[in-house]
Amino acid sequence: MEFKTDIFKQFDKKWALLTAGTEDRFNTMTISWGGLGTIWNKPVATVYVRKSRYTHEFMENNEYFTVSFYPEEFKKVLGVLGSKSGRDMDKMKASGLTAVKAGESMSFKEAEVTLVCKKLFRQSLLTENMPKDIANTMYADNDIHDMYIGEVVEIIK
Ligand SMILES: Cc1cc2nc3c(=O)[nH]c(=O)nc-3n(C[C@H](O)[C@H](O)[C@H](O)COP(=O)(O)O)c2cc1C
Repeated sequence: MEFKTDIFKQFDKKWALLTAGTEDRFNTMTISWGGLGTIWNKPVATVYVRKSRYTHEFMENNEYFTVSFYPEEFKKVLGVLGSKSGRDMDKMKASGLTAVKAGESMSFKEAEVTLVCKKLFRQSLLTENMPKDIANTMYADNDIHDMYIGEVVEIIK
């Protein structure tokens, strides 16, 4: 397994798709907050999903998720997948991306790289444990993030 990147730019500037579910029922959304690292001697990806997202339901109900990265030309598509909800429309179809199986989860053929992750941990980001200014600006509506840590079990290029 190898993945070379500038981690401070990888999520923030490039964005990614977070996908969970199985071939017959899955959802995807754009993320730009996340991390890659190590815990419990395992390579992991960490993502943050607000409870209001349709994808949250899929993160809760599935053991695996994927984080996939795309060439620059797909930025517009990622913009759409990050502003429309799978609750309201078949946004995967509308995106024009080609869904493919990725390990025990799903990704898209157009991805440069897909990290297949096995869920290890979930924790809500409680506002009482963060600086007040961040709590006030990011969570005024109380729509908090759940943090998911997944073991990277496969890297598909
Ligand atoms: C660039 C970008 C980055 C985003 N990053 C996140 C994120 O890290 N976590 C999150 O919960 N939502 C994030 N979003 C918002 C979701 O992608 C958006 O609400 C999406 O429509 C949710 O889709 P769903 O309801 O089908 O899950 C981001 C949106 C954009 C455009």
